[in-house]
Amino acid sequence: MPTNPITRRDFIRTGTAASAAAVLRPKTRPFAGPVAIASGNGLAAVARAVEEINAGADALDAVIAGVNLVEEDPNDTSVGYGGLPNADGIVELDSAVMHGPTGRAGAVASIQGIKYPSKVAQHVLQRTDHVLLVAKGAQEFARMHGFPIENLLTDRAREIWVRWRENLSNRDDYLPPHGPEDRDLGEAMRRNYDHWGTIHCSAIDLQGNISSVTTTSGLAFKIPGRVGDSPIIGAGLYCDNEVGAAGSTGRGEANLENCSSFLIVERMRMGDSPEQACLYACERIAQHTHLARLQNEAGEPAFNVSFYALNKAGEVAGARIRGKGRMAVADANGSRHIDMAYLYA
Ligand code: GLY
Repeated sequence: MPTNPITRRDFIRTGTAASAAAVLRPKTRPFAGPVAIASGNGLAAVARAVEEINAGADALDAVIAGVNLVEEDPNDTSVGYGGLPNADGIVELDSAVMHGPTGRAGAVASIQGIKYPSKVAQHVLQRTDHVLLVAKGAQEFARMHGFPIENLLTDRAREIWVRWRENLSNRDDYLPPHGPEDRDLGEAMRRNYDHWGTIHCSAIDLQGNISSVTTTSGLAFKIPGRVGDSPIIGAGLYCDNEVGAAGSTGRGEANLENCSSFLIVERMRMGDSPEQACLYACERIAQHTHLARLQNEAGEPAFNVSFYALNKAGEVAGARIRGKGRMAVADANGSRHIDMAYLYA
C-alpha cells in the first residue's frame, strides 16, 4: 500500500487531472533561499552544497562539492573510491551533471581509476562539445585535465568481491574459507550482493538556478562495461531551470527503460508536486515490469528504484517503488532526513 499523504488511487486521480489541465508552466511561489536534496547517503553532501551556495557558489559547483564527499569516502561502497568493483574486481564509475542556466550536460561512463567522476563529467560539460565520454576515452580525457589515475579498490571492497567470487557457484574452483567436514561450498551468498548504490544531489542557488549530479560505482559485480542509469541524461537525472530537477538511485535498468527523471520533470511542468511526480514515475515502472523474474508473487516489481525531486519553488520530495526510505534535505533550517512516499510496503 502507498504511504500518506497521497494514496495510490488519489495519485492516479491527481495525475489524470493534471494531464487534462496540460499546464505547461509550473505553479511557483516565492523562493525563500537555497535548498539541496540528495539520496539518503547524502546528508553531508546537502549540508556542503548549501554551505557552498551561501558562500556564493553556482548550484552546479555546490552539488559537485557535496557529492565529492561521498565519492572520496572509502566507507561508502556504492560510489567512487571504495565502491564495489565489477565481476573482474575493477571499479568502474558512472556520473552525470546537468546545469540548469545553460541547459548543458556532461557525463562519463565505465571510467576507471578516477576518484571524482562527477568532476570529470563537469569537465565534459565545460570543456567539450559532447555530453558523454566512456571507458578509456573518458579516462584519457580526465588524465589530459590533470586528474590522477588511482587504484580505487580498497581492501574492504576487494574482500567483499573475493567473498562474492568464492560463493558464486559450488561448481567452480574458487573456495571460501572452509573446514575439512564442509561440503557443497558456494552459491548460498550470491543474492546478498545484488545491490545498487549511488548518490544523487540537486540544488537551487541564490540566483534561483538549478543544477544536478548523480554519481555511482553502479551495480556491484556487474558485467564489465555495464552502464546503469546514473550517467544517462533523462534517466539518472534531469534538470530544467524553469521547472525543477529529479534524480534516481536503485535498479538502473528499470530507470533506463522508462526515462524516469525526464518524466518527473515533465510531470512537474504539468503541475504535479515533486511527490506526485516521483510516484508517477514509480507507477510507470510498475506498469512496465512484465517479466516474472522481476516480480514478486503479487506481481509487483521485486526491485527498488528511488526518486528525488525539487521544483522551482523550492518544494522537495521523494518516492520509492518499495518500502519506507529517507532522503537528505538542506535549507535555511539546516540539514536532515525526511521520509519518502512509496508505492508498495
Ligand atoms: N542506479 C545505479 C545503477 O543502476 O548503476
